[in-house]
Amino acid sequence: MTAPDFDAETVSLDWNDAGTVATLTVDRPDKLNALDETTLRAIPDALDAARDDARALVVTGAGEKAFVAGADIAHMSQLGVAEAYDYCQLGHAVMDAVEAFPVPVVAAVNGYAFGGGCELALAADIRVASENALVGQTEIDLGIVPGWGGTQRLARLVPDETARRMVFLGERLDAEACLDAGLVGEVVPHEECVEHAQGLAGRIAAKPRFALQGAKEALNQVHESPQSAGLEYEKRVWSGLFGTHDQQEGMEAFLEDRDPEFE
Ligand code: COA
Repeated sequence: MTAPDFDAETVSLDWNDAGTVATLTVDRPDKLNALDETTLRAIPDALDAARDDARALVVTGAGEKAFVAGADIAHMSQLGVAEAYDYCQLGHAVMDAVEAFPVPVVAAVNGYAFGGGCELALAADIRVASENALVGQTEIDLGIVPGWGGTQRLARLVPDETARRMVFLGERLDAEACLDAGLVGEVVPHEECVEHAQGLAGRIAAKPRFALQGAKEALNQVHESPQSAGLEYEKRVWSGLFGTHDQQEGMEAFLEDRDPEFE
């Protein structure tokens, strides 16, 4: 398989041998992968490049210390209200694009994930933390609040008390505290973090594509609509999968007591 073209200075896109799992790496290690405007703009481009072929995506940060140390403070320090709003809109659009990526996104939180870095991890579907991870919505200490979705996505993922402590106090949770809070699904040794996330993504990628997409869309509705509308949405996704190759193959394989061969 030929990997789709993607070229950016501070974001890279790599593929597994099967061409089913893409790894998007924020690659600005000298600034602990802080998201300046150039890097932010490159992320949706990378997602677009991965969209047609990826059956699962890993998001991570380059270097040994950080996942993403947040929005770029040097840049933010120069902004007035109108420019801050534009930067906020851009950050929101990037996090929305990660959340809406058609197949599951696994964040490999391989170090510091502060501010916008925490928000990037929150926009993923699933989070794997390295033992070195330190995660926080630390904006309060900069005189601001989470501005790329953190007030909403954090409070939906972890207990309300935890979210309020993190946002009010800028508390930084270590990997075990993240696990206890439900902020990440598992903690793995630092050096195995990205590979482990890629393995998990590979297991997801082996599942039937349309069912995965439908499952993600339906799960995302939990945050978009009242339960009654979400249940209606689920009915449409569920029934819409009937007649696909993978639905027929999955059920036939079960009935024939063999492993399915998905498309
Ligand atoms: N924005 C811009 N630059 C950042 C950054 C950010 N969010 N986080 C780190 N950097 C830069 C530092 O300015 C430094 O650059 P320099 O070498 O040119 O001086 C480089 O990354 C290394 O950071 P440094 O602070 O020297 O590393 P450290 O190991 O001592 O500390 C942190 C690491 C993550 C604890 C510290 O960098 C930090 O607190 N960063 C800000 C985190 C934050 O508040 N994020 C939320 C923003 S919304």
